[in-house]
Amino acid sequence: MKIVITCHLPNDIIQPLEERYDVVMWEKSSEPMPRERLLKEIEDADGLFTNVADQINEELLERAKKLKVISTMAVGYDNIDVAAAKRKNIVVGHTPGVLTEATADLTFALLMATGRRIVEGMDVIRQNQWKSWAPFFLTGQEIYAKTIGIIGMGRIGLGVAKRAKGFSMDILYHNRSRNQEAEQELQATYCDLDELLTKSDYVVLLAPSTENTYKMIGKEQFAKMKNTAVFINTSRGTNVDEEALYHALKEEEIFAAGLDVFDSEPISSTHPLLSLRNVTVLPHIGSAAIETREEMARLACQNLLNGLEGRPLVHEVK
Ligand code: GLV
Repeated sequence: MKIVITCHLPNDIIQPLEERYDVVMWEKSSEPMPRERLLKEIEDADGLFTNVADQINEELLERAKKLKVISTMAVGYDNIDVAAAKRKNIVVGHTPGVLTEATADLTFALLMATGRRIVEGMDVIRQNQWKSWAPFFLTGQEIYAKTIGIIGMGRIGLGVAKRAKGFSMDILYHNRSRNQEAEQELQATYCDLDELLTKSDYVVLLAPSTENTYKMIGKEQFAKMKNTAVFINTSRGTNVDEEALYHALKEEEIFAAGLDVFDSEPISSTHPLLSLRNVTVLPHIGSAAIETREEMARLACQNLLNGLEGRPLVHEVK
């Protein structure tokens, strides 16, 4: 049987796959397998190891005559047409759990960097613009004991709430369902979206990308936020209306935004958001801690092995 791996992984991680199957792995570590090559390789593949950079859509699935398992090295699977895969009896696996803490760390790091203008501070020094200490030079927003509003209280949302608790923040959250752990252990308060937007100093978006969350934060929602609000998105870019965000930042309707994800990735250095002072951007690195990425890759390999050998996946997308 043949397995296609669209990214480059360390040998020790793919060894269990190589021992049993013919593995075609993309060689370059900084970019994914080109689409044309993937479309060709998939024709006779039994298993696919993928990640958020690939579009696993009808076009690809139609060519996949033998495919049995799609395993993504990610918790999010909005890049995969799961319904189309199911129609073809292809199982889909993903890697929740192992990336929770690293992604919550990065979210909080971005929150702090954005609120306190850390990247701007470094840019000022690099550009030789640091002239003197001055009373209101690079002043940002306090974090300690402020109010954080978390939209999407899943595993990562809860991880961010735990970190916020350590900063004595008041925690508001909005979610499809109530989260007992957040309420009982962290005294998080459930509220509707409008109340969260109006009351929060930090609005943190962690909802998965679905048709219900598409552009869920747009003009109307930014208008409801405080002028001092800091908006953080480490979920998916498609959850936000980027044009509305651009205007909210430009008109200073909100204080700043920290973004790890974008509507279309990668963005280029000429993206309009980058022309703004009050935005901190990262190249989709929420889970990018070494141990975490190794765990994700191992788990994705295990999902693939289980699927090909007829066992239940460790984490199947249902
Ligand atoms: C990354 O964005 C993931 O979904 O794991």
